[in-house]
Amino acid sequence: SSGQAMDTNCMTLTRYILEEQRKHKTATGDLTQLLTAIQAAVKAVSSAVRKAGIAKLYGIVGEVNVQGEEVKKLDVLANELFVNLLKSSYQTCLMVSEENENVIEVETDKHGKYIVTFDPLDGSSNIDCLVSIGSIFAIFKKQSSGRPTVQDALQAGNKVVAAGYALYGSATMMVLSTGNGVNGFLLDPAIGEFILTDSSMKVKPRGKIYSINEGYQGKWDQSTLEYVNSKKEGAKPYGLRYVGSMVADVHRTLKYGGIFMYPATTDAPSGKLRLLYECIPMAYIMTQAGGAATTGKEDVLDVVPTKIHQRVPIVLGSTEDVEDYLQIVKKHT
Ligand code: AHM
Ligand code: MG
Repeated sequence: SSGQAMDTNCMTLTRYILEEQRKHKTATGDLTQLLTAIQAAVKAVSSAVRKAGIAKLYGIVGEVNVQGEEVKKLDVLANELFVNLLKSSYQTCLMVSEENENVIEVETDKHGKYIVTFDPLDGSSNIDCLVSIGSIFAIFKKQSSGRPTVQDALQAGNKVVAAGYALYGSATMMVLSTGNGVNGFLLDPAIGEFILTDSSMKVKPRGKIYSINEGYQGKWDQSTLEYVNSKKEGAKPYGLRYVGSMVADVHRTLKYGGIFMYPATTDAPSGKLRLLYECIPMAYIMTQAGGAATTGKEDVLDVVPTKIHQRVPIVLGSTEDVEDYLQIVKKHT
């Protein structure tokens, strides 16, 4: 027949995680269970982002559903899904969410050894206009003994056990690293499973695209200004792409190469993006894919957080592109 045969032995994300676990003789399966919970949260968020069951939710039109209840905002819904599914995995003791001012403590009877930091739905300005958004997460192990405190959550990126993101773009993809390279899994809506489509993802050493919110040019420092200007000069200027959703901009950078920047500005000297659940996971993925991520002063993965919602300037992507930027920074200091 002319139709494509179904792969009856495909590598699902669940199978991949299980096989990784089996490679480690000492593995308990705890991380597997935790990643399964994250996967479930991502599937539910993806479904909500794609407006599955919209007629039921909205009664066709409006902000109030058929029961007369106000429809939950997507970011609130995504946060509740992450929090509830992670708690009920029995693998976490503490969480940090972009949506919660304080750390989220897990009930003692549900305690596990992991700490998860996440942005359940990043790219808030893109939600209502249907532009790509994403979820971002990092997993750490609790280092101290005793009752978990905020201090346990303040770990540097070089302590990450696993991290990744989900992109709700023209398709839903989950990109994951457990410290052994980066793999990408595309959601097959027909069977509700993530399928390994991008194995051992590597970022090109140099790209042709730069990505930055150029509207803030008047507030950049000299290094950023000089670097971005240098990309527009010469016979082969770089192209500009900027979605305004970190997951989409970083995923494109990973796939096509180039550089993504959210630098310091005069009114935001630490930039905008959050260290624990935006910058660390993305820096970890980029580094695992052979790329680089810097604050301009140090490797993003070396920054030791002092506050859970701390921000840092970030420049990440192809190693040579990041290196060019650092050369210019050096010249100006
Ligand atoms: P958010 O957490 O409110 O969604 O903000 C984070 C987003 C990132 O996804 C993106 O990289 C950045 O904000 C874009 O900011 P700007 O609109 O200033 O360029
Ligand atoms: Mg965010």
